[in-house]
Amino acid sequence: MRVLTGLQPSGALHVGNYFGSIRQMKRLQESSDLFIFIANYHALTSLKDGEALKENTLDAAINFLSLGIDPNKSTFWLQSDVKEVLELYWILSSFTPMGLLERAHSYKDKVAKGIGANHALFSYPVLMAADILLYDSQIVPVGKDQIQHVEITRDIAIKFNNEFGDILTIPEFKVDDEVATVPGIDGAKMSKSYGNTIDIFCTQKELKKRTGKIVTDSTPLEEPKEYENCNVFALAKLFLDENGQEELKHRYRSGGEGYGHFKMYLKELIWDYFEPARTKREYYLSHKDDVRDILNVGAKKAREIAIKKIEIIKEKVGIL
Ligand code: ADP
Ligand code: TRP
Repeated sequence: MRVLTGLQPSGALHVGNYFGSIRQMKRLQESSDLFIFIANYHALTSLKDGEALKENTLDAAINFLSLGIDPNKSTFWLQSDVKEVLELYWILSSFTPMGLLERAHSYKDKVAKGIGANHALFSYPVLMAADILLYDSQIVPVGKDQIQHVEITRDIAIKFNNEFGDILTIPEFKVDDEVATVPGIDGAKMSKSYGNTIDIFCTQKELKKRTGKIVTDSTPLEEPKEYENCNVFALAKLFLDENGQEELKHRYRSGGEGYGHFKMYLKELIWDYFEPARTKREYYLSHKDDVRDILNVGAKKAREIAIKKIEIIKEKVGIL
């Protein structure tokens, strides 16, 4: 089963990204033929600072490798290293009705937020379709906001196949329903755009500060507390097994401890959980050539498939 996903290189990763996405990728690489790449061409639609894009791209590779994307278990590469994707992007553009792109929520939302509308932003879903179709992907795990893009991919592929026969594999999207939305320090969905994140690779001091700011009610220290609607508990739960969760519930119900204690405990949980990832990250940060080598190996594997596919497609559409 070929499972493919793209990850935007968009700066620091937070706890919501880990439990909402990265952990799922780690599981998928154990059970499927996972293709996973850093979507740096997509990032160019919104980032116009060359140095920053380079840095973010390498950072993203380092972060994903540190958090457990394993190049021996998955094919992990940089989107721009497989140039065939841009050939396919153009070919697919000729099979993409304008109306299909005009309906894309993501484009409309970005424009509404004041991001300058340019052609790449508009045709973003076509490049995403090329990413998916070039590798005969069957399943595309995405966050809810990306479902429509996979639907657009399906529409484009069906249109193409109607002209040329069964050439493109029609993909399905997969949204992990088990993944609960991780709350940020203010209780709303943790998101970069809300400024309420707890970043995975922040310093211990910063972590203490961020966990200290989590919004709670004001039940006095000695009284029993409700864990059900507590943001601190909702976050701590992610790092605990059944027993650990039961123990923490017991501490909430018993009273005698304030939210400060629970926040301190949460800080320790987060810090310890990401300790191995931090160690790996230190290594990669001082061995950036290794990271480039890993990406090159991934690109080579991906390209072998891409080259074969693009040849078939070009032959069909009549590009010599
Ligand atoms: P952000 O909202 O911070 O910009 P992204 O949109 O870059 O995050 O999300 C990248 C991935 O992480 C997506 O698959 C998304 O579903 C997941 N994700 C982000 N925030 C959360 C959250 N608070 N809870 C669960 N999953 C999340
Ligand atoms: N658009 C996706 C996002 O913002 C990233 C992406 C690019 C992608 N190409 C893809 C995801 C192909 C899945 C498949 O998260």
